[in-house]
Amino acid sequence: AIETVFPGKRSFLLSRSTFVGSGKYSGHWLGDNTASWDQLKWSIPGILEFGLFGIPYVGADICGFFENTTEELCRRWMQVGAFYPFSRNHNTELCSPQDPAYFGADSMLVASSIHYLNIRYTLLPYLYTLFYKAHTQGDTVARPLMHEFYSDEATWDVDKQFLWGPALLITPVMDPGVEVIQAYIPDAAWYDYETGARISFRKQSAELYLPADKMGLHLRGGHVVPTQRPNTTTVTSRRNALGLIVALDDNGTAVGELFWDDGESTGE
Ligand SMILES: *[C@@H]1O[C@H](CO)[C@@H](O)[C@H](O)[C@H]1NC(C)=O
Ligand SMILES: *[C@@H]1O[C@H](CO)[C@@H](O)[C@H](O)[C@H]1NC(C)=O
Ligand SMILES: *[C@@H]1O[C@H](CO)[C@@H](O)[C@H](O)[C@H]1NC(C)=O
Repeated sequence: AIETVFPGKRSFLLSRSTFVGSGKYSGHWLGDNTASWDQLKWSIPGILEFGLFGIPYVGADICGFFENTTEELCRRWMQVGAFYPFSRNHNTELCSPQDPAYFGADSMLVASSIHYLNIRYTLLPYLYTLFYKAHTQGDTVARPLMHEFYSDEATWDVDKQFLWGPALLITPVMDPGVEVIQAYIPDAAWYDYETGARISFRKQSAELYLPADKMGLHLRGGHVVPTQRPNTTTVTSRRNALGLIVALDDNGTAVGELFWDDGESTGE
């Protein structure tokens, strides 16, 4: 029906009832979850599995659907949720509000949500390039560490971190009252996304200090990531200048790709 109404244009379809092959037509949300730390953690395996099922446009209800969320749970969930391929805060009726603004314009929850959503939309050209490759080659978008570092067995059971494509390592905090976490840093040169500083460890578990308003974001050396200054909608963002982040590998080299997307045509 949507193809008939909007010929040559992309559709937005979202379902929680999909099957292998549905990814050609639809995204998937992980259904009616609960506002709990446990369900926040399970969202990552859920998203990584749907990538394998060929439905890369996937996300969980950020801050939790059933039951009342808390400021801390919602803040940590907004942080990682900014990197769900499908990113949506979603609540049910009769539960307390969880729009970040409900927690106050000056709240850390609002500031942290804006900060990480701005990074998401700064990286939109990279995200769309990953979706282009998913569409044309069946690649994953949100990607388990083991897909990139398969020969390193230590990556095989990592389910609390994930990558966007090959180049962005995402390390959220998913426990209450926690500021220091053990993260696995695979064998590559890595740079802190926000400071650009090269980190000194690789192929090892490492302690990351991630206070209330921080999550871990690292760029992998050897990759060029396209960016665009974000505005309030993707239509207006696309009018802004593009940029590149070049993260060098040990040999001082980097490669990257850009699918220059118009945001609406199917290209078919
Ligand atoms: C959730 O919050 C609402 C108020 O927004 C309250 O009426 C309800 O009892 C709370 N539910 C639970 C399970 O605490
Ligand atoms: C956002 O878009 C509006 C409308 O096109 C424009 O006036 C404004 O300058 C843009 N701001 C940024 C930061 O790109
Ligand atoms: C650096 O260059 C050497 C020699 O060409 C090569 O063996 C090695 O794999 C390169 N390292 C990276 C990280 O690309």
